[in-house]
Amino acid sequence: MPRYCCEMHSGWPGSLADVDLSDLAFWDRPWDEREAAFRLLRTEHPMARFEEPEILDAPVELETGPGYFAVTRHRDVTTASRHPELFCSSKGAVSILDLPTEMVEYFSGMISTDNPRHARLRRIVSNAFNPRRVRAIEDSIDRLATQVVDRVATQSECDFVTDVAAPFPLRIICDMMGVSPQDEATVLSCSNTILSMGDEEYVPQGTHPVTAFIEAAMTLTSLMEELAEHRLGTPTDDVTSALVNADIDGEALTKQELASFFVLLVTAGNETTRTAIAHALWAFTEHPGQKAIWQTDFEGTASTAVDEIVRWASPVTWMRRTVTGPTTLGGVELVEGDKLLLFYNSANRDEEAFVEPSRFDVRRDPNPHVGFGAPGPHFCLGAHLARREIKVIWRELFERLPDLTATAEPVRLRSNFINGIKHLPCSFTAAP
Ligand code: HEM
Repeated sequence: MPRYCCEMHSGWPGSLADVDLSDLAFWDRPWDEREAAFRLLRTEHPMARFEEPEILDAPVELETGPGYFAVTRHRDVTTASRHPELFCSSKGAVSILDLPTEMVEYFSGMISTDNPRHARLRRIVSNAFNPRRVRAIEDSIDRLATQVVDRVATQSECDFVTDVAAPFPLRIICDMMGVSPQDEATVLSCSNTILSMGDEEYVPQGTHPVTAFIEAAMTLTSLMEELAEHRLGTPTDDVTSALVNADIDGEALTKQELASFFVLLVTAGNETTRTAIAHALWAFTEHPGQKAIWQTDFEGTASTAVDEIVRWASPVTWMRRTVTGPTTLGGVELVEGDKLLLFYNSANRDEEAFVEPSRFDVRRDPNPHVGFGAPGPHFCLGAHLARREIKVIWRELFERLPDLTATAEPVRLRSNFINGIKHLPCSFTAAP
């Protein structure tokens, strides 16, 4: 049954009044209803305004601001991303609520900066993630995929997310950063807490989600500090060594910059790719014909299939931008300080940009999706790596567990930010 298809929805929402993107209950709705709501927004209210969610009893001051515009059309998301001079990332961070300055500095890193600072920070790490560097670690990506599949192959069922989709990118990013295997579980649990922002499974009972977020970031920071100390004296070829020994025009990264880089890279490198890999299994289960197309001609279909998976899954739902001065977007006049959320999920289903956007099509070409963000200075740094990871894990799975299918509905992450899947039971013929 095509669960994302707009024609299949229940009739909800009747009108804009039914839709509140700031209410978590909206994000609990079935995917097809969410799709229907975004379709309504795109076609009738492409720049609708919403109140900001209220976060009560937070341990730091998080003021509810004046609201935000939901940018839902592909062309408007693209325009905003291309013009950071008008739609910036550094004011109050890329979250809905403005974070206190110390928190922006510490936890959001370069994703919440603008030029010239952004260019300086991005230069330091871009080498580690460029196509040449990703090619250089292809062997280790292949090896880690084999290891992850080895661990489940002799069973005939598993939880695809916790057994395959989560450990694979986790191992790769930990390997790249130089984090030891003993610390991987800590990295996983901290990044779950940071990006889920409140899903009960990842926040200890009785703990405020903001407290849990801060504690998780502090844990990652101390892990990084320990590692950085080692790497200062004895650098290796890992990314942490490059960060601690970075020399930009005679300047080193500050301790805060180091910490925020580490938090950003391990969280961004983990949750997103896991989400894409998990959605792929659900999509293949619901669209076995598409799976067969890719299985039959793996190499010939890989590049379009991988991008279709990212479009389909849209792992990151939105990023925020803030207006720097009077301008217009989507026909709406904006003034300095206005907040915009760029809804990538909606842009990725925009009928103006895609032929039959509700169809999962592993041969889709062209596919101008904005799953990695739209072109602009903040375009996902890890896109080459993520594409490679998705391709390699599916090659391994098709070869060794060719009849792998999901056996129940995905258990979804309760989040308006990551379109996550927490659990996805699956079965397959056990392989020796
Ligand atoms: C399927 C997987 C992934 C998806 C869907 C994804 C998506 C995104 C999106 C939407 C953005 C924001 C773009 C913008 O604001 O314009 C972003 C930025 C970023 N991503 Fe990814 N990402 C993925 C994998 C990765 C991986 C594996 C890494 C590696 C560490 C990574 C590192 C980053 C970083 C560092 C940024 C900030 C870039 C900047 O501000 O200059 N991402 N990603």
